[in-house]
Amino acid sequence: MSESTQSAGGFGMSQPGSSEAGAAAADANGAGGGEPETLSPDATLDLSRVQRDAAADEVLERMDGDLVGLEPVKTRIREIASLLIIDGARRRFGLGSSPPTLHMSFTGSPGTGKTTVALRMAELLKGLGFLRKGHLITATREDMVGEYIGHTAPKTKQMIAKALGGVLFIDEAYSLHRAENERDYGQEAIEILLQAMENQREDLVVIFAGYSEPMRRFFGMNTGLASRVAHHIEFPDYTTDELMAIASKMLDEESYELTEEADATFRRYLEHRRAQPNFANARSVRNALERARLRHANRLVRQGGEVSREDLTTLTANEFLKSRVLQDTGDEEEDATEGESA
Ligand SMILES: Nc1ncnc2c1ncn2[C@@H]1O[C@H](COP(=O)(O)OP(=O)(O)OP(=O)(O)O)[C@@H](O)[C@H]1O
Ligand SMILES: [Mg+2]
Repeated sequence: MSESTQSAGGFGMSQPGSSEAGAAAADANGAGGGEPETLSPDATLDLSRVQRDAAADEVLERMDGDLVGLEPVKTRIREIASLLIIDGARRRFGLGSSPPTLHMSFTGSPGTGKTTVALRMAELLKGLGFLRKGHLITATREDMVGEYIGHTAPKTKQMIAKALGGVLFIDEAYSLHRAENERDYGQEAIEILLQAMENQREDLVVIFAGYSEPMRRFFGMNTGLASRVAHHIEFPDYTTDELMAIASKMLDEESYELTEEADATFRRYLEHRRAQPNFANARSVRNALERARLRHANRLVRQGGEVSREDLTTLTANEFLKSRVLQDTGDEEEDATEGESA
């Protein structure tokens, strides 16, 4: 479990601090400063102001700018934001409607941005007044499912309690269900979750994340869960062009540049790498750049003598040519065991 403000050093994307996220946001939905008085039927509401006040525009624009590609994901998020804005506006007129269900699933290959987008989503939902706190708690099976009778309920409830007012992000959610073991305690965790998703849905958004295929099977076997997930969002794999654009953003943030030759070599690297096992989209880009940075440093130190600013910021083709991926000696060593922070 981690309270996520995942800001990996090096080539990590800068993540929005989830706690102060949307601190300046006003309450479009009237949450927070007490219920605003009901508007008269002939009044009008300025939607663009509501949107601005809620910092929705700002979060959405930042998401557009920071995150390469992901068009279908961005579209869905805009739709959800619109729904909440209109929901809030309707309530200002005293129009009855229950708050929308916002539990979601984020499915896709490793490194396609699921965790990153979940953090932005939490921030956005706070800005729009749907969530009180807008923090994100990541939970995996180990955090929720116990090994002995009586262990699971308290563990699951504790995670839910921690996430109240924010997002409970269940990573590799399919591992909650172990089909081969009928007596597995995962089922107990799922039932407790279900209850919380129903009874506390005004104060909790649950996002189930994982790779597409096992998640599809997981929802197939847990139809009660699937039916309470209002938004199933699929994260597509990045194209090589998108991976190059992601690399360029990461390099920019860390004040590195590629020579023209390095750029072409890195593209070739990515084309090879994506066909290999354990390819993890944007995370593999970050890892490859970290290794290039290491080789660059090594080269400069070994050369000795004077270095210019340009020397310190320029990654050359050599930095990539040394990689095992391009030498066809198999998997990039480090990538074979790639983890979240590798
Ligand atoms: N569209 C994007 N634009 C820029 N950077 C991105 C994008 N998508 C992902 N990244 C970066 O790639 C890395 C991996 O992303 P993230 O952890 O969100 O992926 P994930 O889908 O949660 O992966 P996993 O399924 O393995 O948990 C992060 O450093 C993130 O900032
Ligand atoms: Mg993740």
